[in-house]
Amino acid sequence: MPQWAGQALDISSQDLASNASFVNYVRHHRFTCPSTGQPVEVVEKSIRKVAFLGSQEARFHRAEGLLAGSTQFRYPACLGVVETPWESLIFTEFVRGKPPRMHAIARQLALGIAELEGLGHAWLQAQPAGKAPLLWSMDFFRPWFLLRPRFNFARCLPGLAQLGRQDARFAGLAERFAVFGPLTRKLAAEAKRSPRCISHMDYLRKNLFVDKGQLHLIDWSEVKVGRVGFDGGAYLGSLFRRKDTAVFLAAQQEFVTAYREALGPQFDGEQALGNLRYVFLLTALYHCLRPETVAEYRERERMGLLREKYEYLLELANT
Ligand SMILES: Nc1ncnc2c1ncn2[C@@H]1O[C@H](COP(=O)(O)OP(=O)(O)O)[C@@H](O)[C@H]1O
Ligand SMILES: [Mg+2]
Repeated sequence: MPQWAGQALDISSQDLASNASFVNYVRHHRFTCPSTGQPVEVVEKSIRKVAFLGSQEARFHRAEGLLAGSTQFRYPACLGVVETPWESLIFTEFVRGKPPRMHAIARQLALGIAELEGLGHAWLQAQPAGKAPLLWSMDFFRPWFLLRPRFNFARCLPGLAQLGRQDARFAGLAERFAVFGPLTRKLAAEAKRSPRCISHMDYLRKNLFVDKGQLHLIDWSEVKVGRVGFDGGAYLGSLFRRKDTAVFLAAQQEFVTAYREALGPQFDGEQALGNLRYVFLLTALYHCLRPETVAEYRERERMGLLREKYEYLLELANT
């Protein structure tokens, strides 16, 4: 920062817990500003580059004006992005707050997401033609995103067939789950043609802070040029994975009601909910079918609950 250039800063630093795959480290730095005497707290996130290519997150932070005018979510200010051939360094303000209970903030998330989608849509439309290749490369439907395991539940179906042979409660399920192949392909085709927006895609407890009733959102490592409704699907998909069915259903109801009301008039509500369903299914199917989840439920002797979740998903395919 220009005001600190050439000044001797006494910085104390601490590593923060991070687990995303391309993140080298996340660090909390504190020092006293020599000119104002005020304490300064900054977070530094280092993201490893692959083939010298900058990360999605660094590109996002260089997108100016995108989040300006936001009244629902709060976002820590980005102080700067530094690129080296090997890493992107992102500097943001440190935020303080409590991790929320994810089912309890359904309404607040709905309002924040509807607003973010409106702002992102307007921002994308205002970008110059020269940005088109960059935005194209950030689109959710590019193979470098779609081929990731988390969007490919079908790879887990052989494991489900095997589970059905070991545990009678799960017999025949793999065949029934096959319907999700054509269903998600149909939803994907519809989503592809619908309005673009900026989608955060990572609504986890670790990425949100509640402070004085305000919701602060961080961590844009999953950000994409998505479609209206995708973020709701990402939130509800991860909620479905973590909560029992009753808690999930109540939060879903609350989310969808508030979201429909808050969604901007530039979007078609039915289309947005179709897109939400698409990302919900991709997320929930992957999380519930992958071997790690099955092992976790088995260890905790909660296979009955997992079976219940499978039934809920299968019922969705018929509605
Ligand atoms: N601006 C910030 N203010 C406060 N804590 C932060 C901030 N940025 C990151 N953190 C902390 O560091 C953790 C990891 O940072 P995050 O950006 O979420 O990285 P990752 O992509 O590895 O999840 C967060 O879960 C949070 O606890
Ligand atoms: Mg995170």
